[in-house]
Amino acid sequence: MTLQGKTAIVTGGNSGIGLSIVLELAKQGANIVIDYVVHPETAVALEQEVLALGDKAIHVQADVSKIADLQKLVDAAVATFGRLDIIVNNAGVETRTSVLDTTEEQYQRVLDINLKSAFFGTQIAAKQMVAQGGGGRIINITSVHEDWPMPGNTAYCLSKGGMRMLTRTAGLELAPHNILVTAVGPGAVATPINTSTMKDAVLLKKLDDAIPLGRMAKPEEIASVVAFLAGEGAAYLTATTIFADGGIMHSSPGL
Ligand code: BGC
Repeated sequence: MTLQGKTAIVTGGNSGIGLSIVLELAKQGANIVIDYVVHPETAVALEQEVLALGDKAIHVQADVSKIADLQKLVDAAVATFGRLDIIVNNAGVETRTSVLDTTEEQYQRVLDINLKSAFFGTQIAAKQMVAQGGGGRIINITSVHEDWPMPGNTAYCLSKGGMRMLTRTAGLELAPHNILVTAVGPGAVATPINTSTMKDAVLLKKLDDAIPLGRMAKPEEIASVVAFLAGEGAAYLTATTIFADGGIMHSSPGL
């Protein structure tokens, strides 16, 4: 167990990739603050799973698009576990709307939940890490779409592109404190965000065919990369992204 005694916050921790990240970090021995907005029963059940692994966990309701709620998460980590070592800025939404039809409300929601939360999550976590000393890890869950356009999902792409530059810029700014800032860029993952694709056999086949590994990722296959980035083995990685995408960003029609 590589994260014994460390404390981690996982935003959006009670569903999708976040849920797998909570379990994987707990398996590595970390104490976890599980952030959630809806479905408290899932957060409670997950907390029980973590306790059963022999680790400590608390669930905290926080809307990460609000700075005060992000502060609440960090305060809860410090009050319960004494410090904060890792934050995973994972919470994210998408609207699957194009540049022609995205409304102001859709734009704002996606940018607030994905990018604003990661920016201020980084800021508030880093302030705590600087104050307590000893460095820390900030891990942003981006997407292949931090760099790779997804027509029909414009606001999402903007938010992930912003998270890409947040990772790089904050990584440089925080390096003197040994606070490492990295990102994981998943491709298509079998989680609720992709329900519409998974329900449509034709669309799913098209997607699987486009992925060199021939299938979507399981959330655990993203969580294991996050656990690596949180651990000692990643001590020299900062200001960069690891893409866990089954090769999709580099797929080629074979011309
Ligand atoms: C998006 C999914 C998309 C996948 C691969 C993810 O970041 O949330 O909607 O299927 O990227 O393109």
